[in-house]
Amino acid sequence: MTSRDNALWLQCWRDQRTDFNQETVNQLLTRFWPGLDLAQGSRVFVPLCGKSRDMVWLAKQGHEVIGVELSPIAVRAFFRENRLQPARRRFGKFTLWQHGRLSILCGDYFSLTKEDLGQIDTVYDRAALTALPEDIRRRYVAHLSLIVPANANVFLLTTEDAEETETPGQAFGIAEEIKALYSVGFEIDLAHVESLFEVDPETPNQPPGRTEYKVYKLSARPEAE
Ligand SMILES: C[S@@+](CC[C@H](N)C(=O)[O-])C[C@H]1O[C@@H](n2cnc3c(N)ncnc32)[C@H](O)[C@@H]1O
Repeated sequence: MTSRDNALWLQCWRDQRTDFNQETVNQLLTRFWPGLDLAQGSRVFVPLCGKSRDMVWLAKQGHEVIGVELSPIAVRAFFRENRLQPARRRFGKFTLWQHGRLSILCGDYFSLTKEDLGQIDTVYDRAALTALPEDIRRRYVAHLSLIVPANANVFLLTTEDAEETETPGQAFGIAEEIKALYSVGFEIDLAHVESLFEVDPETPNQPPGRTEYKVYKLSARPEAE
């Protein structure tokens, strides 16, 4: 990630260009997460967490939730909107905001170390991998493998433009990219696909396109003996 990419994200939050925010907890999360059957107290890492309410839901399931987010505006808004009063302290290159089972490290994901994160059982990725430009996604996945234990699983939600991937000549859809990026370390289970016809707000006069909301469960392959 370049400092320019980071500057663009920080500016998005300053300008309130944050269409990616969900008003409510993600329905695919609440429907499919329980099937993971995670123990109470499991530690869940939420990379590029923004001010996602999904973290509150995860904490209510009994998990320890550790998010990382670049923008202090997002982190402040998260705690304020959820009426939580966090403690705040310096933590290496990050500022750690903490309340109960919710912790957010405010700073750059690419500066995180394994030691910063500690034990992680599962990663929850919604609009993190897919929010990044294509050339950075490989680095994102490579960095993830450095900072979370090899046996941590990934619960990944994506929003995919079905028409884009079905267009002849289109080299690589998100689904293929996920396979290319994750199949070395993980079994990939596409657990659910929901297709909706939606109008793109940027081209409101065009007919609706088909969007696919997908749930991927990535299970870490046992490490070679
Ligand atoms: C598309 S948003 C998704 C937020 C959240 N996952 C959600 O579901 O609402 C991506 C977020 O990643 C943050 N971000 C981008 N690059 C980052 C980086 N290098 N380190 C930490 N956060 C980053 C942005 O500020 C933004 O809040």
